[in-house]
Amino acid sequence: MLIDIVSIFPAMFRGVFGESIIRRAEENGLVRLRVIDLRDFSSGKHRKVDDAPFGGGAGMVMKPEPFFKAVSFLRQGDKNPDLCRVVLMSPRGKLFTQERADQLSKAEHLIVLCGHYEGVDERVHQYLAQEVVSIGNYVLTGGELPAMVLVDAVTRLIPGVLSDVSLEEESFSDGLLEYPQYTRPRSYLGMTVPEVLLSGNHELIKRWRQKESWQRTLKNRPEILKKGPYEEN
Ligand code: ADE
Repeated sequence: MLIDIVSIFPAMFRGVFGESIIRRAEENGLVRLRVIDLRDFSSGKHRKVDDAPFGGGAGMVMKPEPFFKAVSFLRQGDKNPDLCRVVLMSPRGKLFTQERADQLSKAEHLIVLCGHYEGVDERVHQYLAQEVVSIGNYVLTGGELPAMVLVDAVTRLIPGVLSDVSLEEESFSDGLLEYPQYTRPRSYLGMTVPEVLLSGNHELIKRWRQKESWQRTLKNRPEILKKGPYEEN
């Protein structure tokens, strides 16, 4: 899978993509990540990527041309254009869910556009992005952190990046939050591991984990039990 990120702050991605599972996935050839500077696709010596909004108002709006030019350039090498998805990160988009991450992980080429300032020219939303995605009901200073979240969630679903077992057992894959986990020592500062986990009785352990998953979901995310985890907002 090829993932391209288009941003005016490419340096922000170095740390995140240079560590841990994403780095290993890249080293193992499972994913290729490229971070592209949007300014490389702007014209004029000032490399301008924003301008004042038509109709007036505070702040600047990101211009359409650099985004269109960047995407057109990045798509040049696509052998199968249907397997390329262009995603714009924006607080106005549809909420990012595990289901959306699953769908995106099946693409061959993902192009993630990061917005900034007061927003991005509407023509990018309407005619360039195939999906507009928000990572939560809050506004960040730009699309870079949301893009990192999306790329992380998608990369770990690419076959071979994690073991199949860890994907099967995790939160949301069965519609419930994950059960509590413990490791050594059995007792730490008087805090002990539940006896059932030490019992060796796999059937009992399975039932205990199911019960804990239900209780935790009911307490922390009751809306999941009502709607199902993947339902769109
Ligand atoms: N840009 C700013 N806030 C955002 C959010 N919540 N999701 C996606 N992109 C954003």
